[in-house]
Amino acid sequence: MPDTSVALSGITLDNPVIPASGTFGFGYEFSEYYDINILGSISLKGTTKDPRFGNPTPRIAEIPCGLINSVGLQNPGADAVIGTEIPRLAKTFKKPLIANISGFSVDEYVECARKFDAVGQVGILEINISCPNVHGGGMSFGTSAESAAQVTRAVKSAVSKPVYIKLSPNVTDITEIARAVQDAGADGISMINTLLGMRIDLKTKRPVVANQKGGMSGPCILPLALRMVYEVYESVDIPIIGMGGISCAADVIEMMLAGASAVQVGAANLVDPCACRDIIKQLPETMQHYGIEKLSDITGGAHNGK
Ligand code: FUM
Repeated sequence: MPDTSVALSGITLDNPVIPASGTFGFGYEFSEYYDINILGSISLKGTTKDPRFGNPTPRIAEIPCGLINSVGLQNPGADAVIGTEIPRLAKTFKKPLIANISGFSVDEYVECARKFDAVGQVGILEINISCPNVHGGGMSFGTSAESAAQVTRAVKSAVSKPVYIKLSPNVTDITEIARAVQDAGADGISMINTLLGMRIDLKTKRPVVANQKGGMSGPCILPLALRMVYEVYESVDIPIIGMGGISCAADVIEMMLAGASAVQVGAANLVDPCACRDIIKQLPETMQHYGIEKLSDITGGAHNGK
């Protein structure tokens, strides 16, 4: 049986497959479809200090091979996630979690990160400086190397758990931001968040999504995500959680060859709630097909003909 285990900052995962933040709720919703303990980990819905209702509807537009979302960080706030959602998930899911944290100021990121740092089951803090759907926060921190580094430095100095910074692809040079967060002390990088896009309704002649623009995800962005993970792998020495359009075991292998140590699966969960289960089931056979005995050995394998 091939070895599917991988490690992130000293945390061993049975396999590299992690549902991406915002596509898997708080996890327990999916336990009626399958045993969610087969997952490598779960990245929780992006959480802010205070509860947020999110953006006006419609929030979703379909596109060929993907979708555009503009949810606007709807969430019940850090205290409710820690006090209600995580305990509910903990009844069925027994592995370390990834807490995805958003904010509208550096202080807010720090306050929220501190709260999740104190939660026993949280293994990694994923600091989201790349949400494209809110004004005055989210992506505005992730599109300048200076502010990305500022958030990273502030959070790192306030917590003890590994800090992974979730990067935006909506920049000219993602390697510059990656190097800045590494230099500021990040333990790892999650990438990529969604790409800003829009659709226009020909009948109303207005944007489909109420917020006009939204984040594009799905299989249509896989080649772009692979290219960015490939470039960032060559620019930093910290682990990368790769995501963007992964929908089968072969995509997982491709993303790891580009440089990812683990992966997140996002839009595929919205098409099929059992997508992650099926990818995990396919992994051993797909590994055997490509002559891979130990999955963790292939990270970055596409570089220098390794
Ligand atoms: O709008 C949203 O809640 C999306 C968040 C994100 O892409 O980080």
